[in-house]
Amino acid sequence: MKSYNIAVIGGDGTGPEVVREAIKVLDAAAAKFGIKLNYVHYDFGGERYLRTGEVLPDSAIDELRKFNSILLGAIGHPQVKPGILEKGILLRIRFELEQYINLRPVRLYDERFCPIKDKKPEDVDFVVVRENNEGLYTGAGGFVFKGTPHEVAVQESINTRRGVERCIRYAFEYARKRHADKPWRGLKPEDIKAGKRAQVTLVGKTNVLTYAFDLWERVFHEVGERDYPDIKRDYAHVDATCMWFVKNPEWFDVIVTDNMFGDIITDLGAIIQGGMGIAAGGNINPQGTSMFEPIGGSAPKYTGQNKINPLAAICAGAMMLEHLGETRAALAVENAVARVVREKLKSLAAGQMGYTTTEVGDLVAAAVQT
Ligand code: IPM
Ligand code: MN
Repeated sequence: MKSYNIAVIGGDGTGPEVVREAIKVLDAAAAKFGIKLNYVHYDFGGERYLRTGEVLPDSAIDELRKFNSILLGAIGHPQVKPGILEKGILLRIRFELEQYINLRPVRLYDERFCPIKDKKPEDVDFVVVRENNEGLYTGAGGFVFKGTPHEVAVQESINTRRGVERCIRYAFEYARKRHADKPWRGLKPEDIKAGKRAQVTLVGKTNVLTYAFDLWERVFHEVGERDYPDIKRDYAHVDATCMWFVKNPEWFDVIVTDNMFGDIITDLGAIIQGGMGIAAGGNINPQGTSMFEPIGGSAPKYTGQNKINPLAAICAGAMMLEHLGETRAALAVENAVARVVREKLKSLAAGQMGYTTTEVGDLVAAAVQT
């Protein structure tokens, strides 16, 4: 029996509650498909920090490296100054484990939950490949004359040839694979016959950020032309992209962009797919240990109330299965989520689903088994 070791970081707020439901569903899928998942739980997060003053113990990173994957709930605590936990836990893991891709599918399961008029599931079905180790997130920069009237704050965007190229290559590879092994997603065989091709859209700001996105644009076309001639290349400015996410989300297939723009547009993406209750993502190191998480945050006001939607965490679990190579199990979880969303839920919002957090987990686990 294939067996995988999973590090679980429930984290803050509603993180532990949603991760519990994800594990319930993962175990149902594991039983059905004959695999074994071994979990080791870690208590990293705000409570531990307030208790001990420690954000991540020094040994943590090397310990996490040894797992097949990491499942994360949420990081962010109302009593801890913003930045400490985010940088000290989430970003530190992303950087030190070289999870250089943040993969965020935007998929609408049911048109009732799309805030855009007349958009159907086939219209909202794309993937954002967000660079996850560079850009404005590296912490490069600093203050000069801090606290004086002459204060200067500099926050630099770091874009390396290597970092940009590996991200762009990942996006092209993903675009190829997306249509090859998931015919029910995106392009259908008849679309491909009709001449439609997989497409990668570079999202940037070449009209203003003329250094950073000049590099991105050159690498995009160079690599695309040479190694991925089968994939259509497109470009959109980030501001226009926000408009098109709302007006014509069906235009997008795979998007590749830098860390900051990827952060921003995926919140918009989450809303058009039905909200934070359903949006999942993966922090991926294709050669190392990856980490999967719901992208919505810790939702402190719902902590412990059994009201939060666990589907985003469950979808993160499905992404983890897919990444581990358990494609059939991943598909079973995703299809179970789709069925529960369409057939049972009144809403995807916390407290309005018509079911509690644990009940939604039970429904999906049962749907996986049938
Ligand atoms: C996300 C979050 C994080 C980010 C925060 C919590 C640091 O917003 O995963 O999108 O900006 O990447
Ligand atoms: Mn974000």
